[in-house]
Amino acid sequence: MCPAQLGFKSLPRRHIPSQKTFIGSEAFYFVKSGDDIAIKTNDLTKIFLRRNSLMSRLKKKKKIEVRAVDGIDLEVHERELFGLLGPNGAGKTSLIKLLSTLLLPDKGTASVNGWDIEKNSFEVRMSIGLTLSSERQLYWKLSAQENLEYFASLYLLRPSEIRQRVEDTLELLGIADQRDMLIENFSSGNRQKVALARALLNDPPILFLDEPTIGLDPSFSKGFRKLIKDRINKSESKTILLTTHYMDEADQLCNRIAFINEGRIVALDTPRNLKRSIDEKEIITLNLTKASDAMVSELERLEPIHSIERYVQDDSNFMKIYTDSASSCIQDIFGILIKHGSHATYYRTSKPTLEDVFIKITGSGLDG
Ligand SMILES: Nc1ncnc2c1ncn2[C@@H]1O[C@H](COP(=O)(O)OP(=O)(O)OP(=O)(O)O)[C@@H](O)[C@H]1O
Ligand SMILES: [Mg+2]
Repeated sequence: MCPAQLGFKSLPRRHIPSQKTFIGSEAFYFVKSGDDIAIKTNDLTKIFLRRNSLMSRLKKKKKIEVRAVDGIDLEVHERELFGLLGPNGAGKTSLIKLLSTLLLPDKGTASVNGWDIEKNSFEVRMSIGLTLSSERQLYWKLSAQENLEYFASLYLLRPSEIRQRVEDTLELLGIADQRDMLIENFSSGNRQKVALARALLNDPPILFLDEPTIGLDPSFSKGFRKLIKDRINKSESKTILLTTHYMDEADQLCNRIAFINEGRIVALDTPRNLKRSIDEKEIITLNLTKASDAMVSELERLEPIHSIERYVQDDSNFMKIYTDSASSCIQDIFGILIKHGSHATYYRTSKPTLEDVFIKITGSGLDG
């Protein structure tokens, strides 16, 4: 992830100061694509061959092919805060790893900040900051400042620039007073802030944030999201591609969202337009003791009901009833439940959420 690790001694210098995107060393200029597209993918595909168990290998069974990223076409605009929303295993992290050059694609192309991810992987790396939730990103036995100074030094900055960048990122993220604390003593929330500081050290125009608030408590997450949106995206004008399976996070933060499922983009729009794509104005959610096909057919015949989705979560039968007006059909619904020997242990009416849109499109929820 750094010039020294990659064995680069120097880069071709591009004399286009107005398009300089790498702040710090005067030596490097990275040219943008010229249009306002920060990230572009075309039929991007990553296929993993999953290793079989010992028994399957002895039986010479074929390896299972997993299309983690399956023909993704995507354009993210400069300064956009773009969300990839999908359940576990949807391919979100794999897509981020492809775009940050940690994985090579099996098919298709992509450019980041105008640079091709295969032909110009070094320039891509210098144009981005990355946080990966699944990996340990800091040295726990070093302090925040020591970590940041170490990672900044990998960008071949001058000592004075290193000090300045570390100072700037500590201040930006509000952790300057904890600079001397060992990472192992940080709360998980503040540790995530140091990881974000690390991603900002090279002042990249583009940030990839993989599940930035996973495992953080709700009140810390709220502040952290505000920091991402107000300070990093708006004030610092960074393009951000983040992954999440929290629909509230995507709804609050993102200018646009792509729903991703089984490696494919199944819908892409603003949160508002995605929610508008559900015609129905109200959704009745029920947790039922049982749900027979005959009962569902009878419910579907009720006039105000547009459609019904059934799903099982934690061994419970859930039903979502999409309607124009809950009050006009709720009595009839409960009548039909009683007739079929079922009753609701939980009942709620709500406006459509992103999760409802996701369920309508894919037939399953964001928790898979
Ligand atoms: N190195 C690998 N080898 C084999 N299969 C892999 C590998 N990495 C990912 N996969 C598979 O690719 C698919 C997509 O995984 P990925 O981690 O990209 O999903 P995700 O959307 O980030 O999920 P999560 O929300 O759980 O982080 C999954 O089926 C996963 O098992
Ligand atoms: Mg992931």
